[in-house]
Amino acid sequence: PARIRTHHLQQAKNDGRRFAMLTAYDQYAAEIFDDAGIEVLLVGDSAANNVLGYTTTLPITVDEMIIFSRAVTNGAARALVVCDLPFGSYEISPAQAIESSVRLMKEGGVHAVKMEGGRHYADTVRALATAGIPVMAHIGFTPQSEHALGGYRVQGRGDAAQELIDDAVALADAGAFCVLMEMVPAEVAAAVDRAVRVPTIGIGAGNSTTGQVLVWQDMAGVRTGRQPRFVKQFADVRSVLAAAATAYGEEVRNGTFPGPEHSF
Ligand code: KIV
Ligand code: NA
Repeated sequence: PARIRTHHLQQAKNDGRRFAMLTAYDQYAAEIFDDAGIEVLLVGDSAANNVLGYTTTLPITVDEMIIFSRAVTNGAARALVVCDLPFGSYEISPAQAIESSVRLMKEGGVHAVKMEGGRHYADTVRALATAGIPVMAHIGFTPQSEHALGGYRVQGRGDAAQELIDDAVALADAGAFCVLMEMVPAEVAAAVDRAVRVPTIGIGAGNSTTGQVLVWQDMAGVRTGRQPRFVKQFADVRSVLAAAATAYGEEVRNGTFPGPEHSF
């Protein structure tokens, strides 16, 4: 299948079509979502939460993101694969951002990077774009700043709405190929989508964005506990896996597995 490229996402916006994005952190998830027609796979730094068991995205490193990226790019034949620049890998300077992104592309094989932050990172976005590195901007609630933002909170309410629009415009003008918005009021996300030529992606941002993203374990019902309002579970994979593991354990303990048909 022909690879999805950034211009296909732009074409979707131009044509008034939507597209879907899911996180992926390993080969099988990448392969399954790619076969399902998901246009964009995100090697999110949410691997910190969803694979490594941390409570924030802060600890994950470029070296770790490269391992997940390699797995996903090995598994995805068609999807555009985007990797997060993890906390601490781009804030110091545009040069640092280029260095980290080059590693993610060269060693991880990803096609684009995503970076958290508003208009103050316009110079960094410009430097990346100039270096031939497609960059997706991530604004609104930015999990790497959760300690500065005071926890998971909706961003862009009231007077902050114009700030969010200004951030999106500045980042798009600097060369971002797409603007992702997390936890912003639906009407503000719609205004951002109108304000920029490039496609937008939402998570907790209503349905007027060009694309939508979810963490795959949230989408498929792997994670337990209270879910954020923006999550919809499209399956109950946790129950399916738990039932399979329980049945396997019982058959091993009661001696029915392996049977003669599984033996040499
Ligand atoms: O890391 C992540 O999963 C993200 C999202 C936008 C879902 O950045
Ligand atoms: Na992320």
